[in-house]
Amino acid sequence: MSSFDFTAYLAKARNSVEAALDAALGPERPNQLREAMRYSLLAGGKRLRPILCLSACEMTGENPERAMPTAVAIEMIHTMSLIHDDLPAMDNDDLRRGRPTNHKVFGDAIAILAGDALLTRAFEMVSLRSPNIPVERLLKVIAELSLVAGAPGLVGGQVEDLECEGKDVDLDTLEFIHVHKTGALLKASVVCGALIGGAEEKLIESLRTYANSIGLAFQIIDDILDVTSSSEVLGKTAGKDLIADKTTYPKLLGLDESRNKAKDLIGRAKDAIQPWNEKAAPLLALADYIINRDR
Ligand code: FPP
Ligand code: MG
Repeated sequence: MSSFDFTAYLAKARNSVEAALDAALGPERPNQLREAMRYSLLAGGKRLRPILCLSACEMTGENPERAMPTAVAIEMIHTMSLIHDDLPAMDNDDLRRGRPTNHKVFGDAIAILAGDALLTRAFEMVSLRSPNIPVERLLKVIAELSLVAGAPGLVGGQVEDLECEGKDVDLDTLEFIHVHKTGALLKASVVCGALIGGAEEKLIESLRTYANSIGLAFQIIDDILDVTSSSEVLGKTAGKDLIADKTTYPKLLGLDESRNKAKDLIGRAKDAIQPWNEKAAPLLALADYIINRDR
C-alpha cells in the first residue's frame, strides 16, 4: 500500500500555484487591463494543468518549484482560452469559475485584450522568468507551448468545435476536437514539466502516452458532467452542450459507455507510468482524480 497522501499533496500544490499566479501579475497599466487579467487568472479553478506540470517535473527527481514559471504559463494559456471561449462570438457564456464571465464584467474588447496579454505573458514566464533552467530546456518548452496554443492545438480544435455546432458529428471528428481543444494543453502540461526537469526520452515518451489518455478522459468526464451536474457545482453553465446542440461523448455513446471509455483511458494512462513506482505516485493519483472529479 502506498503511503502517499494525495489530499495533502493537492492542497499544498494548489496553494503554491495560487501564490505564484498572484506574483506573476504585475502592476499592469491601465487599471482595467490589470483588473481583467487578475479577475480571470485568480478566480480559483482546479489548477489541474499547473499541478500536472509540477508533478511531472518532480517525477524527474528535480525540485518541482523550478517548473513553477512554466506551470503558471500553462494556467495563463488555459485561462486565456476560457476568456475567449466565453465571448459572444464563440460560446457566449455568462458564468465561469462561479462568477460572471470576463466580457460580462469588462466588455468584449478588454476581455479579448486581457486574453492576449495572458497569452503573451505566458511566453514571458518561460523565456524571461525561469531562473537557472538551461536555455535548451526552455526552448523546448517554448516550442511545445507554441504548437499547443496555435493552429495545431487549441485554435484548430476550437475552430472545428465551432464549425461542428448543430451538425451531425462522428466519433473521429469528436475525438479530433477533444484531442486538440483540451487534450493538447493537458499533454503539454505534463511534457513541459518533464522537460524542465531534464527528463530522459524514455520517461518523456511514457508521459506522452499517459497524458494522451488523461487528456481525452478529462474531456469525456467534462461532457458527462455537463449532463449530470449543476451550474452551482460546476461554476459554469451546466446543460450547455445540449442547448448549443454540440456533439458529445454521452450523445454518441450514452452515459454508461462514455464512463467506461474514460475508465479504460485512465487505466491505460496509469499503466504507462506504473514502472516508475513511487516516483509516479502523484501522477497516478491525479489520473484517478480526473475520473472521480465532480467539477
Ligand atoms: C472550452 O471548451 C474551451 C477550450 C478548452 C479551448 C478554447 C480555445 C480557444 C478559444 C482558442 C484559444 C487561443 C489560443 C491562442 C490559446 P468548452 O466550451 O467545451 O467547455 P466549457 O464548458 O468549459 O466552456
Ligand atoms: Mg465553452
